[in-house]
Amino acid sequence: MKTLIQSFLIVNAVLMSTMGAEEVVYAQVGDTVTLKPPVGTNLQRQYLYWFFSDLQVAWRNSFGGKGFHKDEPWTNRLSWLDDSLVIKNIQQEHFGTFSCKLKSKTLITFKVLKLNVTKSPSSLLLPGEILSLDCSVEAPQGHRKPGIYWLDPQGKKIANNEGPFKVTAKGQHNGQWTCVVRNDRTEHKATVSVTVVDLSPAPQRPQYTSLSSPLILPCSIPAPISWEQMKAKGIRGVDWLFFPKPSSNLISDDPQSLFSLSLEDPLNWKPNQDRGLTPVRDFKKGDLSLTRNRGREDDRGDYVCILKVNENMSLNRTVQVNVLKIISYPGTDLISGQQVNLTCSFGQPLPSDLRLKWFTPEQSSLQPLSPDHHRAHLTIPQVGTGDGGKWRCELRQSNTLLASTVITLKIEVPKLSVWMLVIICSATIIIILLLILCFIFYKRRQRKLRHLRHRLCQCKNPKPKGFYRT
Ligand SMILES: *[C@@H]1O[C@H](CO)[C@@H](O)[C@H](O)[C@H]1NC(C)=O
Ligand SMILES: *[C@@H]1O[C@H](CO)[C@@H](O)[C@H](O)[C@H]1NC(C)=O
Ligand SMILES: *[C@@H]1O[C@H](CO)[C@@H](O)[C@H](O)[C@H]1NC(C)=O
Ligand SMILES: *[C@@H]1O[C@H](CO)[C@@H](O)[C@H](O)[C@H]1NC(C)=O
Repeated sequence: MKTLIQSFLIVNAVLMSTMGAEEVVYAQVGDTVTLKPPVGTNLQRQYLYWFFSDLQVAWRNSFGGKGFHKDEPWTNRLSWLDDSLVIKNIQQEHFGTFSCKLKSKTLITFKVLKLNVTKSPSSLLLPGEILSLDCSVEAPQGHRKPGIYWLDPQGKKIANNEGPFKVTAKGQHNGQWTCVVRNDRTEHKATVSVTVVDLSPAPQRPQYTSLSSPLILPCSIPAPISWEQMKAKGIRGVDWLFFPKPSSNLISDDPQSLFSLSLEDPLNWKPNQDRGLTPVRDFKKGDLSLTRNRGREDDRGDYVCILKVNENMSLNRTVQVNVLKIISYPGTDLISGQQVNLTCSFGQPLPSDLRLKWFTPEQSSLQPLSPDHHRAHLTIPQVGTGDGGKWRCELRQSNTLLASTVITLKIEVPKLSVWMLVIICSATIIIILLLILCFIFYKRRQRKLRHLRHRLCQCKNPKPKGFYRT
């Protein structure tokens, strides 16, 4: 158990003139105590003595010469700080009455009383164990009993009656507790550090990722716990499980074991179905987080970080993950003039404190975006070539970017429009018809010519056949 100890001493200026005044000082065993004579008295070049009961333990002459009581239990324990006496590492036998004397006159008397701060158990605590804190003081004779209270690690005052303060340990009890002892003029604080082994609170809201944003699964134990201490407490290790959330209403898949950390030597993560995730480098300092620099479509689900305490107990924290993506209907390869609907979502309605923000290609037909472009749906009535390129959607919580995602649209200009097709087809048909007509006309002409020639032949060259003049 490491107890940090501080001791404050506030001497009221009222005491200045009151020679022979008495002060009460509280200290824990091991503290360094500084006893300061009343301010304002000119003690320079004066012969000063410090007494413990009747024993002269320290002196200083007018030329700056100093001396201390050399025998045990004072050996090497005392020093001067200007006119003050400093007692380091105070032990049981040093509690009592100290007085500062100028010649034979007593300037001030200090009653150094023991303050005892104990905590139990003295080692680490697991959530659910009883933490007991006790702060007790010796009752000063002839003085009022001081008021005692505790400040928890968050600085909240805890009213406490007699006896030790008891509480069922929780993660929030981890940290430095302060016992405050207050009497009329002085206040003393003693601190004690309490370590509750617990996992850091899971994030309040889901983590968001996308194909172009990282995936971070946070989980950690309070920083100052060493794995050796954890092992001594019986802690066996850490597991990361993944419960995929089915994208449709199919039956949920079985949980997958992602990683396990065993406290055996050497302390290291064992990947199971690691899904491309990696534990952060600092895991030996208690950071059990997993990361990947890009999300995946199938990352949606619950990730559970489990600290296996012992056979009866384990602690867990669940990190919900949603994947942000843009869906284009009817697709990403489009023909100019088509209507296109883009939807940016993560499979759940958008919580009221989150905002979506769209970014279009520079030449987009939707530029400038209407002011209500925070909606999940965007309709492009007729895509044009300017709509080709990257469309980005950002998910923000006030000014924090949670995730962003991109879709690339390809727009093709139709090479032949329907009208052009009709014209081309008609022209072709007309040409073919013309050709046929020409052909028919030509054929007919030829036949006519042949016929005519035949007739002419009969008339011009009448070959008298079988015609004889007798
Ligand atoms: C403080 O008190 C506890 C009991 O509450 C006792 O066992 C322990 O010895 C005390 N410590 C000192 C330094 O007096
Ligand atoms: C676990 O529980 C069993 C019975 O419930 C008990 O006997 C045992 O001591 C417990 N182990 C630890 C480490 O608390
Ligand atoms: C996490 O702990 C709760 C109780 O705190 C328990 O009901 C739940 O089953 C645990 N989840 C897993 C995956 O161990
Ligand atoms: C786009 O969405 C609107 C309503 O939001 C709907 O009327 C239209 O048919 C959709 N267009 C396409 C191509 O899906």
